[in-house]
Amino acid sequence: MRQLIHKLYSRGGLSRDEIVYLLARLDAGVRKELYGLADRKRREKYGDKVFLRGLIEFSSYCRRDCLYCGLRASNRSAERYRLKPPEILDCCREGYGLGYRTFVLQSGEDPWYTEEILVNLIQEIKAEFPDTALTLSIGEREDRTYQRLYEAGADRFLLRHETASPKLYQTLHPSMSFDNRRRCLKVLQEIGYQVGAGFMVGLPGQTADDLADDLLYLQALHPDMIGIGPFIPHSRTPLSGAAAGTIEDTLAMVALARLMVPDALIPATTALGSLDSEGREKALKAGANIVMPNLSPIAVRTKYALYNNKICTGDESAACRHCLELRIHAAGFSVDMGRGDSLKSFQVK
Ligand code: SAM
Ligand code: SF4
Ligand code: FES
Repeated sequence: MRQLIHKLYSRGGLSRDEIVYLLARLDAGVRKELYGLADRKRREKYGDKVFLRGLIEFSSYCRRDCLYCGLRASNRSAERYRLKPPEILDCCREGYGLGYRTFVLQSGEDPWYTEEILVNLIQEIKAEFPDTALTLSIGEREDRTYQRLYEAGADRFLLRHETASPKLYQTLHPSMSFDNRRRCLKVLQEIGYQVGAGFMVGLPGQTADDLADDLLYLQALHPDMIGIGPFIPHSRTPLSGAAAGTIEDTLAMVALARLMVPDALIPATTALGSLDSEGREKALKAGANIVMPNLSPIAVRTKYALYNNKICTGDESAACRHCLELRIHAAGFSVDMGRGDSLKSFQVK
């Protein structure tokens, strides 16, 4: 086991069988070693810096019906809201004042925000804050729209592949296409975005083979960012009775992702922090190097409910900013408020 992990550390690659073998034998000792090596790899690449991104959850409307998500269209009890462009700009102003230099605009798939509205919004944000990076996480759109949003000034795009198993993907995403999800990721990369892919850990029916395929897919895609979080059930979805993913399994996947795609930016996700009060710190110690605190107005926070018991729904943006700084320092890292571009993006420029 030690040999396998060290091979991964020095060569960055394992076969599918080796990953599955490793996942089946992760005891406390092996995990500790794995997290330690992932931490070392992150320090080699990015030092002890943790980048902060201001997250603005601007719409809880969604036309999709992903089985796991509280925002799914069929969830009639979900409270829906839309922040209008001036309100989104206000969030950016508050975030800029707090020192953020990356804004992440995330939403359900909401056609109210037409290409036109998004282009104007992006242009306004970039005109007012030219030294910031803008990340979109708005799901699937036409290729042409991705292109126009990039030309308007969007720099990055997060679109998790969710799972590398075609069968599981199809079960979880009625009327969506596994192939199109992957195609979108390719298109986004070709356009020039810094791209984030990623997956959930502990989805009902997910196997070790599936998780190995997730890692191998990420290694082949070589995205700039990798979002990995535990699946957490939401009470008003068809998966309400399913068990959540575990913190240990998720941390193992974070660490393996760091070793297999060493120059990626990897967030310590809110879902990890929601599952375990120290989850984000544990992820930082297992190779993650991003935290994405919430900048959405408090009045809408609880309405962006992907899963139950999400953290920071009642905390002011300034409070989260301060809280995180303390937590990051206490965990032995330093805060970097810069744009925090991926190492890969410097290589291809
Ligand atoms: N609608 C866009 C999309 O799906 O790409 C962006 C927003 S979506 C809410 C962001 C991510 O939330 C998804 O990619 C998914 O991995 C995650 N998510 C949704 N429901 C979840 C749940 N129940 N547990 C953990 N993560 C969840
Ligand atoms: Fe909509 Fe995204 Fe939730 Fe799927 S994961 S239902 S696309 S918000
Ligand atoms: Fe939100 Fe600690 S990060 S309160």
